This record gives sequence, C-alpha cells and structure tokens, in this order.
Amino acid sequence: MEKQSTGQGARRSLAKRFNLSLIIMYIVTVLVTAPTIYFVTQKQVYDLAEKDLVLLVDVVKSIQDFVATDLRPHFMKEQILYSPAFSGIVATSRIAKYLKEKQPQYYINNASDNPLNPQNQVRGIEQNLLETFRGDRNLETLNTVGTIDGQTYLVSSAPKISTKGCLRCHGKPEAAPDDVKVAYGTTSCYGYRPDEVVGVSVVGVPLDDVQTLTLSRSLMILGGITALFTILFIVVNLLVRRLILEPIVDITTVAKAVSHGDISREVIVRHRNDEISDLANAFELMRRSLVTAMKRIKRKP
Ligand code: HEC
Repeated sequence: MEKQSTGQGARRSLAKRFNLSLIIMYIVTVLVTAPTIYFVTQKQVYDLAEKDLVLLVDVVKSIQDFVATDLRPHFMKEQILYSPAFSGIVATSRIAKYLKEKQPQYYINNASDNPLNPQNQVRGIEQNLLETFRGDRNLETLNTVGTIDGQTYLVSSAPKISTKGCLRCHGKPEAAPDDVKVAYGTTSCYGYRPDEVVGVSVVGVPLDDVQTLTLSRSLMILGGITALFTILFIVVNLLVRRLILEPIVDITTVAKAVSHGDISREVIVRHRNDEISDLANAFELMRRSLVTAMKRIKRKP
C-alpha cells in the first residue's frame, strides 16, 4: 500500500510538470497565433475584395467606353437619341439591374440627390461621398468602407460631373428624349447646370463576408492547433509513463524491498538501451553483489 502511494506520487508530479509545460506552450501558442491569424486573414481577404473591386470598376468603365465609342456614334449618325445607347451611366444602370439578379452581393450605382430615377436617390455612405466630392473638386476617386442599405461594402467611388452634353437629358425637361420623358416624367429632377458634381458613381464589394471568413478561418486554425496539442498531450503522457515512470516505480519498489531486508526481488530490466535501463541494470548488479556478499557472510561461522 505504501509502495503504491509513493510510486503514484512520483508519477503524478513528473507527469504534472510535463503537462503543465504543455498547457503553458498551448496557451502561449494560442495567444500568439490568434491575433496573427486574424490580421493575416483580414489582410488577405481585404486584398481579395480589392481585387474584386478593381475588376468590377474596370467592367463598369468598359461598359461606358463601349457606349461612348461603339454605340453613341452609331445612334447619333442615325439621329436616334435612345438613352441606354447614348449615356454610359444609363447603360451601367441597366446592366447593374441585370447583374443584381445574378450576383446580388455586389453593388453598382450612380446616385444623385436630384435623380431622374428615384431608385438612384443617394443613401447611406453615398450622401457623404457626394458631399466629399463637392467639397474637394480635385478628388477623382475615393476608396473606402461604408454602409448602404444596412450592408457594409468596400467601395470605390468617383464624382459624376455634368457637362453640356448631359443637359440634353438632364437639362430642361421638354428637351429631354422621349424615352426619358416617358420613363421618368417631366416634372422633377431635371435642371442640371454644367460643371457641377451632380452625382456619385459607387461600386461596392460586400464586406460582411470578410468578418465571417476571418472568424471561421481563425476558428479552423485554432481548432487544428488544439487537436495537435491534444494528440501531443496524449503521446507525451503515454511516453512519460512507459519510458520513465513505470521503470522508475519498479526500481523504487525493489530498492524499498532491499532496504527492508528482502534482497531476493529482482529488478525488471527492460531490453532497452537508454539511461533508465542503465540505471535498472546498475541497480540489479548492486543487488546481486549484495546477495553474494550476504551468502559469503552466512557461510562464515
Ligand atoms: C441620353 C440621355 C442622357 C444623357 C445625355 C445623360 N444622362 Fe444621366 N441619366 C439618364 C437617364 C435616363 C438616367 C436614369 C437611369 C436609371 O434608370 O437608372 C440617368 C441617370 C443619371 C444619374 C443617376 C441619378 C439619376 O438621375 O437617376 C447620374 C448621376 C447621371 N445620369 C449623370 C449624368 C451625367 C453627369 C451626364 C453627362 C456626362 C449624363 N447623366 C448624361 C439619361 C441621360
């Protein structure tokens, strides 16, 4: 009973130290890794969103180039003033409507505080952007994070500045082309003057996903680290018990028996070649020498 408790005591304290070191290592790893993962992932995901944004902005620019170089001259020659074939903004607005059905997460809009189409009324961050561009006429583009209709976007924006050409549709209502008058009426939201910031073009890539992704990636990697440490914990405990604790408890048991006069108990020497088996061997040799010496003493009268 006494042997048992001493052995168990030793086992507990050694294993405890190993385990404590492992737990401290785990906590330090998590403390260092968690913020690192968060920042690295966040940067990665922002970079990705930015790539998406650059692509989308270029697609919008290409639509406007297509209207300006391919469509507009052709329709002008035919003397047809059809707004989607004349204005890149109108074409973008129509294409954005179709894109929204396929990719609702993206946001493309030309907003104004004096819009022909009431759906283009500035809202959310568009209001601030419009004011910023009106306040600083040298500003050509502005990339920022902002909320529109409750959704957070990484946004690329640019001012829409009126020229004389714009007044054909946005000037006097009676001069506007028929398709514009039919669709938007003639009573409100005309009256542009040249060289004014009349609106703002906004392209947005959703950012809610960024946070969710950052969180799920962090949790995944932390889960991996936890699993790794759990395996390490189990393996280290198994090895410590097999390789160190059990042989030492055996030697201790025999040493105690010898000290109480029972020199017949052999030390179990495991066939291994390490410091612990050396110790067991040395101890067994010592016990045998003791047995021989005792026999000699007993033989003497
Ligand atoms: C051929 C007619 C036409 C011309 C020219 C034109 N626009 Fe428009 N514009 C429209 C129509 C139609 C809409 C509404 C599109 C929609 O339904 O979203 C619009 C929409 C806009 C909007 C979004 C807000 C709103 O009114 O609905 C802005 C900003 C805008 N135009 C600015 C301009 C500027 C700046 C120019 C000149 C560089 C210009 N437009 C030239 C017809 C025109």
